[in-house]
Amino acid sequence: MKYRSLGRTGWKVSDVSFGAWAIGGAWGSVSDEESLSALHKAVDSGVNFIDTADVYGNGRSERLIAQLRKSRKEQIIVATKAGRRLPKQILEGYTRENLTTWIEDSLRNLATDALDLLQLHGPPTDLFYHPEVFAMLDDFVKAGKIRYYGVSVEKVEEALKAIEFPNVQTVQIIFNCFRQRPADLFFPRAKQKQVGILARVPLASGLLTGKLRRDSTFASDDHRNFNRHGEQFDMGETFAGVDYNTGLEAAEEIRLLLPAGVSMSQFALRWILMSDAVSCAIPGGKRPDQVADNCAASDLPPLTPEAMAAVQRMYDAKIRPLVHQRW
Ligand SMILES: NC(=O)c1ccc[n+]([C@@H]2O[C@H](COP(=O)([O-])OP(=O)(O)OC[C@H]3O[C@@H](n4cnc5c(N)ncnc54)[C@H](OP(=O)(O)O)[C@@H]3O)[C@@H](O)[C@H]2O)c1
Repeated sequence: MKYRSLGRTGWKVSDVSFGAWAIGGAWGSVSDEESLSALHKAVDSGVNFIDTADVYGNGRSERLIAQLRKSRKEQIIVATKAGRRLPKQILEGYTRENLTTWIEDSLRNLATDALDLLQLHGPPTDLFYHPEVFAMLDDFVKAGKIRYYGVSVEKVEEALKAIEFPNVQTVQIIFNCFRQRPADLFFPRAKQKQVGILARVPLASGLLTGKLRRDSTFASDDHRNFNRHGEQFDMGETFAGVDYNTGLEAAEEIRLLLPAGVSMSQFALRWILMSDAVSCAIPGGKRPDQVADNCAASDLPPLTPEAMAAVQRMYDAKIRPLVHQRW
């Protein structure tokens, strides 16, 4: 496992880290026992950074991470999120009172006195024009409730606006072979300001693992079933917002580029790590075998210029017209 600086926090985080949404919920049924095995496998593989949220299984994901931390001696940095408890994403919901409640709940779930990194969880665009919300976050840092804060955004424009606030340490954004726009303008700016970048949905919800087929089915409580068209939350979070069959065809083009012994997931993650502005990718993993597969991407040699150019051609021809300007 290799490690990269996380913004100005002083932390070095595993460049392949762990996304803990699926072990909380919204991805079909998961057993806590298997989720804990997946978490232990991540730490065994060198992962020292986990991304979660208060709403992932209504605290279930955070509580599993607390259990993991209790039974391991390694330092495990946990980034959680707040804001999605609101019935609707409106600026008026981001009050000191609500933030206090969300933070206290996460502190309890994570069994800790201070949150390592608190991210605003896809707040409305309007919020990024309200410095008073960020001033409140500064107060929570001063009070010792959170060590650092960052944001998780849908759009590049929100990311660009967020890093104008000097104490935003990290931006979490969708970045993968199917979602390339963050690299155009945002990554150079973030790098210049030493802001950490968490690349989320790195496997396009499984499309980039190469295991999905036209006739693959998903449980009714799996967002790949119920949110394909953005029925419950932003459709960009499901299959990275790419039309399913187009995504399958594009993934087949990537399959042709795999070096010997490299899995599709590893290739997709290594592609993300080719951007040195990225601090880490946070692939979701439900089982130890998935985690082991993903973590091995960290130690792969760089992708060849030919492979990078081929991914670019695939993106320009098949994916760019569908997603590039949308997020
Ligand atoms: N708004 C936000 O802030 C937001 C939104 C989305 C995600 N996130 C964060 O980003 C993380 C990653 O995104 P994601 O979980 O949505 O999507 P992802 O990482 O692109 O896909 C994860 C899913 O792919 C499958 N998978 C993972 N590794 C695999 C492997 N090696 N081989 C085969 N299948 C594999 C697993 O599901 P199956 O086994 O069921 O196929 C897993 O749950 C989340 O866990 C969360 O921490 C944040």
